[in-house]
Amino acid sequence: MLLASTVAAPFALGGNPTTPNVKKAFRYAEIEAKIARRDFTGIYKEDLPTPSMLVEKAVIERNLRHMADHCKSTGIDLRAHCKIHKSTDIARRQIGLGSLGICCATIAECELMVSAGIRNVLYTCQPAGKNKIWRGILLAAKDPTFMMVADDPITADLLDEAAAVARIKPAVLIDLYAGLTRAGHATGQPGLELARRIDSKKNLKFGGVMGYSGAASHTKGWQERRRKSIEDVVPVVETAMLCKKAGLATPIITGGSTGTYNIDKEIGITELQAGSYVFMDTAYMKVGGKSDPVNYTDFQPSLTVMTTVISRNHPNQVTIDCGNKAMLKPTDQVKGRPDVVVENQGAEYGILKWNEGDELKLGERVELYCTNLDTSTNVYDRYYVSDGDRIVDVWPIMGRAGAVQR
Ligand SMILES: Cc1ncc(COP(=O)(O)O)c(C=O)c1O
Repeated sequence: MLLASTVAAPFALGGNPTTPNVKKAFRYAEIEAKIARRDFTGIYKEDLPTPSMLVEKAVIERNLRHMADHCKSTGIDLRAHCKIHKSTDIARRQIGLGSLGICCATIAECELMVSAGIRNVLYTCQPAGKNKIWRGILLAAKDPTFMMVADDPITADLLDEAAAVARIKPAVLIDLYAGLTRAGHATGQPGLELARRIDSKKNLKFGGVMGYSGAASHTKGWQERRRKSIEDVVPVVETAMLCKKAGLATPIITGGSTGTYNIDKEIGITELQAGSYVFMDTAYMKVGGKSDPVNYTDFQPSLTVMTTVISRNHPNQVTIDCGNKAMLKPTDQVKGRPDVVVENQGAEYGILKWNEGDELKLGERVELYCTNLDTSTNVYDRYYVSDGDRIVDVWPIMGRAGAVQR
């Protein structure tokens, strides 16, 4: 049973009475129209639908700046990965701070970025099958700075044929095995042979080497992460050296991640593909940093999923309007309440439980740090950018189905 004292005061329907200039009753109907006009005045977190995604402006700006400064001071290039955010607004900020271009994980993300005029896009997944080959070639025809990767000679052959039809000569990098069996051609001599095959094509340019170790990026403890990176990525760099020795211009050695950003340069990576650093998630927060064996604090969490408490009939637990559809995970964390445990209860429901501490009230807003950024951001349409309780911008999340379909 809940104590009478924990029952919220009759819910103030107009919202927080401290909110200035709120025409209390009917303003919800106006909010979409205001956002469409990019007029964010008088919009507060409490006005937003839930579940929705919030980005804290000051924190994301700090993260963007920290990565940009690191890359400048250590002399490694950044081509930030957009698979995390799928946002042209964030991509433009990354480029404004010095990112060479943008990496994309899907052809739809590539179409989004290229159509938005973002140059130097690298598609980090090999385009397999006619649909992706042709969409890749069309993008390269539209923007000669667009680049692709191949981990299979068949892809090199098909790209060459398609490029001949389109009368273009796109750059293709080789994607090499770096500890993840999901993709990547064998390093060493086989890697060199694939590079030579691309280089020998009339309609392709050999663009360099890629090797991404997702296992290294999330290895706990900085020293152990460094050891794993060396194990996984040194063979990639050595293959790039083989290519150079064989006379192939190898301008790019790309890879790396948020977890290894301060390791990749010494291994010989020339371009960093880090993505998660803009938002951070609960998995990354616990991999440890250079000076902290447990917490990874180089970048701060800037993204939350805002939810509403929608039921409270049992002690020390409430229900929120966030479940499978909103990508809730038991490893998510409640912002400001590390004691609260998250449980999934189906498509639209989540449960929050705690032992001691303040009750959560019916209608109260609760913000969650999510566990996996890519899959979470993929189910939302926009980021509401916040400065304290105020909403100061809205950034669309796109690139799920291609630029034409959005
Ligand atoms: C190929 C590739 N490069 C770079 C990244 C970015 O890694 P992170 O988000 O850990 O910075 C990823 C993430 O999955 C990836 O798949």
